[in-house]
Amino acid sequence: MNETMNERAAGTAAPASGEEVSSPFLRACRGLPVDRTPVWLMRQAGRYMPEYRAIRERHSMLDAIRTPELAAEITLQPLRAFELDAAIIFADILPPLIGMGLRLDFVEGRGPVIENPITSTRDVDRLAAPPAAETLSGTLRAIELVKSETSTPLIGFAGAPFTLASYAIEGGGSKSFVKTKRLMLAEPAAWRRLMERLVTVQADYLLAQARAGADALQVFDSWVGLAVGRLDYLRFVAPYNRALFDRIAEAGVPTIHFSQGTSSWLADVAASGGDVIGVDWRMPLDWCRAQIGLERPIQGNLDPVALLAPWRELRHRIDDVLERAAGEPGHVFNLGHGLVPETPVDHVRRLVDHVHAHVTGPSQARTEP
Ligand code: CP3
Repeated sequence: MNETMNERAAGTAAPASGEEVSSPFLRACRGLPVDRTPVWLMRQAGRYMPEYRAIRERHSMLDAIRTPELAAEITLQPLRAFELDAAIIFADILPPLIGMGLRLDFVEGRGPVIENPITSTRDVDRLAAPPAAETLSGTLRAIELVKSETSTPLIGFAGAPFTLASYAIEGGGSKSFVKTKRLMLAEPAAWRRLMERLVTVQADYLLAQARAGADALQVFDSWVGLAVGRLDYLRFVAPYNRALFDRIAEAGVPTIHFSQGTSSWLADVAASGGDVIGVDWRMPLDWCRAQIGLERPIQGNLDPVALLAPWRELRHRIDDVLERAAGEPGHVFNLGHGLVPETPVDHVRRLVDHVHAHVTGPSQARTEP
């Protein structure tokens, strides 16, 4: 069964009507050869950019997400500044929880806070599952606006069921995930209902983003590998990721499955879905590739904090990722997690240009010492 799943997942989404794909990003997502390695960066719109901070001085995070013109503008900011191969819609993984009945706010200096987190099986059963078209229309409209402004491929996204469940239960970020794991282990039936409801809501949201114009869909499972081990992943997490990727396959656009802390069971992550596997920065790219299979497109995996190092060191690390990708088709250059606010803008520009200057093709010889 695993083999069938792998094969299906590896057979990346075909272009809708067999049309020629010219974007390097979309080609790499399908494992096709490219002239230059495509690059985009998680959190490419954000606090490291002065033009982003200028907007956020006047608007709250939730307002910026919900106002289509603002979200579209923020999405386009990094595209104007750098030669990126893809845009990602400015939004967040957490707003879908609002429609489900949770009171979410982004608190300055503290991050996301949920006032009424899930504490019991009764809370799970009270969760709503409204259509994204009703509750997340600002983001869907923002996607349409971005598509009317640029021909650069646009990525839509959502949180994976586990990562969203962890916020819904912990009420915010967590280091130990005690409450989440307690519900998972002590109330397995409630856990299943919660994860199924999240699959329903996230699948609907992702499909709506594709209908609005998103050219690819990324699922963020940012915290799963920091919270559970392999066996619990297989039992309490992977089936729901599988269900989610099965449901969104009908969008006909490439799907990207990003997770963190899962190096030890990357093959299981890959088997649970996604045309492209997004890997964190903890293990070298070629090692990750060996785990997921050479035919499977891969995205990653520079340590985001490497952008804070002097250019010489940063360049060395970018080259290392590119050399480990070895010019094989199916590599999307990215970080192993999001850009941090302390990142120098100039290093983002140099990174993008340096990746593009690298000539792809098997067994590239290094030209610089
Ligand atoms: O990548 C992009 O440029 C698109 C926008 C995007 C944001 N959040 C904007 C944001 C994306 C893809 C996300 C995903 C997201 N949000 C994840 C998964 C990826 C990851 O980073 O692990 C998670 C776990 C969240 C939840 C979240 N949102 C947290 C924990 C925080 C606070 C921590 C932080 O970085 O400030 C946010 C806020 C947030 N989301 C900001 C941005 C630009 C900062 C808001 C601000 O103060 O302006």
